[in-house]
Amino acid sequence: MAGAVLVRRMVVVVAIAALVAPGEVAAQLTPTYYDGSCPSLQSIVRSAMAAAVQQEPRMGASILRLFFHDCFVNGCDASVLLDDSSTITGEKNAGPNANSLRGFEVIDSIKSQVEAACPGTVSCADILAVAARDGVNLLGGPTWAVQLGRRDTRTASQSAANSNLPSPSSSAAALVSAFASKGLDSRDMVALSGAHTIGAARCATFRARVYNDTNISPGFAVRRRQVCPASGGDGNLAPLDALSSVRFDNGYFRNLMGRFGLLHSDQELFNGGPVDSIAQQYAANGAAFSRDFVTAVVKMGNISPLTGSSGEVRSNCRKPN
Ligand code: HEM
Repeated sequence: MAGAVLVRRMVVVVAIAALVAPGEVAAQLTPTYYDGSCPSLQSIVRSAMAAAVQQEPRMGASILRLFFHDCFVNGCDASVLLDDSSTITGEKNAGPNANSLRGFEVIDSIKSQVEAACPGTVSCADILAVAARDGVNLLGGPTWAVQLGRRDTRTASQSAANSNLPSPSSSAAALVSAFASKGLDSRDMVALSGAHTIGAARCATFRARVYNDTNISPGFAVRRRQVCPASGGDGNLAPLDALSSVRFDNGYFRNLMGRFGLLHSDQELFNGGPVDSIAQQYAANGAAFSRDFVTAVVKMGNISPLTGSSGEVRSNCRKPN
């Protein structure tokens, strides 16, 4: 009898597996992945992120960006966390990341607490996914069930980081296509760009916009030039959302309506182009933004994860085992 049930279950499993196209792995991630093996995971990450965000609210933004820069380079596999070594040219020194990505120490500290509670169990890629969710939520944004079960890569690709991460000088069409190449549609792209409701950017990334662009509020351009000289001061910071850079809300889109986008790529989302109507919807309806952001960030987290016996669970997020 038990044998018959087992056989029937196996038939069902095989039938379901046959429905999933090769390479389609999202179904292998599940929010309950560590429920048995590391029940304290969620609370460890939450308290560590709460402490980090309390100390410096921008850290919620920095960790969310780390997650994006991980997922867009060969999938969410913690490649971004690997340090350079004699055998690895890491992604940390790629153009979009160098002198820019931050929060690695926060992930290290969470990882050591998780290792102490559940040794060798939880991947760095999953820790980053949960920490990013908590950062958003702690800054007043939505929460969601994080899909889990990713494993960590043993390799990194600086060249993929240079070519796959969109540049702040991108046009709307280039942004749509960069996201489409990761399986994310225009709506996902606009919603995910709403992450720029938190955090800051360096002068080097918005100088050309505030000196050369014409689709910018003149008063805003003058104010931003004051923190961003025509030469020098590359590292000077300005908030990505001038209205509320430590609050995860739809302020980013309301800014775009007034031509207050800080990056050239930001204002491209509302500049008479293909995605204007989506940006307009989010500016008018914070709940719609919040809902679509959750859909899109879960999709982003499903980009090419390593699962099963691929990759490993790193013990130190900075180096392969
Ligand atoms: C649409 C294409 C995107 C472009 C061109 C872009 C570009 C940038 C640039 C240039 C910065 C400033 C970096 C610096 O000055 O050091 C930045 C910051 C940031 N980005 Fe993006 N980004 C994009 C999409 C995203 C997405 C999809 C997310 C997350 C879901 C994200 C999250 C962030 C956050 C939170 C910050 C602030 C980080 C901090 O304060 O430490 N960005 N982005």
